[in-house]
Amino acid sequence: MQLIVCDSYEEMSTKAADIIGALISEKNDCTLGLATGSTPVGTYRELARRCAQQSLSFSKVCTYNLDEYVGLGPDSDQSYVYFMRDNFFSHIDIDLSNTHLPDGLCADIDAECRRYSDALAALSGGLDLQLLGIGINGHIGFNEPDDIFIPDTHCVELTQSTIEANARFFQTPDEVPRRALTMGVRPIMRAKTVLTLVNGAAKAPILKQALQGPITPHVPVSLLQLHENAIFIADREAAALL
Ligand code: F6R
Repeated sequence: MQLIVCDSYEEMSTKAADIIGALISEKNDCTLGLATGSTPVGTYRELARRCAQQSLSFSKVCTYNLDEYVGLGPDSDQSYVYFMRDNFFSHIDIDLSNTHLPDGLCADIDAECRRYSDALAALSGGLDLQLLGIGINGHIGFNEPDDIFIPDTHCVELTQSTIEANARFFQTPDEVPRRALTMGVRPIMRAKTVLTLVNGAAKAPILKQALQGPITPHVPVSLLQLHENAIFIADREAAALL
């Protein structure tokens, strides 16, 4: 496991863009696992800037997002499919048909989970790189703290801590959907590289548990201690307790 500590959010975002950019330069048809939330926004902005300067092209890149709220679709500005278009896909030269998210509007949740798991399982060699943020409770994707690790795509009841943390994106906490579809830990652990970004003082306690605590499903991100090529990039505030 590699830990890179940066002075600022901007430096963290630039370093992450460097790693993703280097992968695309080496393999222009690579497959990326992507995250939403506030953490990767700067990375997406920097990658989009490089794409606008034509130093990077996503024209052959394929993406799979971690998760989506149940009940929200592309027309809702709180959905993750909307977030990805707004913050990233509409600013780069990616072919939208190469971008994938679980369908929050699906009629049959079990069938949708199977469909997404099968698509990820069919990737030969798995994702080339999975980009992650972490929740203050240690979740990755919406793999919430639990007694077990769940390998494949599943529907999850969001914890109170996650609902409260994500309420900032909604008008009121009541509007935060209570359920989400999330990739399980199998495709994350199968990714050739897992790049986890962590910034801000609020994440310092969970980053310490993630890197230095026991490997446990009660802190899902701790599983990355077992990954052969896990890179954490943290700003000084997040790394303060290490
Ligand atoms: C987002 C996701 C979540 C976030 C995490 C951190 O797709 O799956 O695990 O990465 O909740 O969110 P932020 O970055 O908003 O602190």
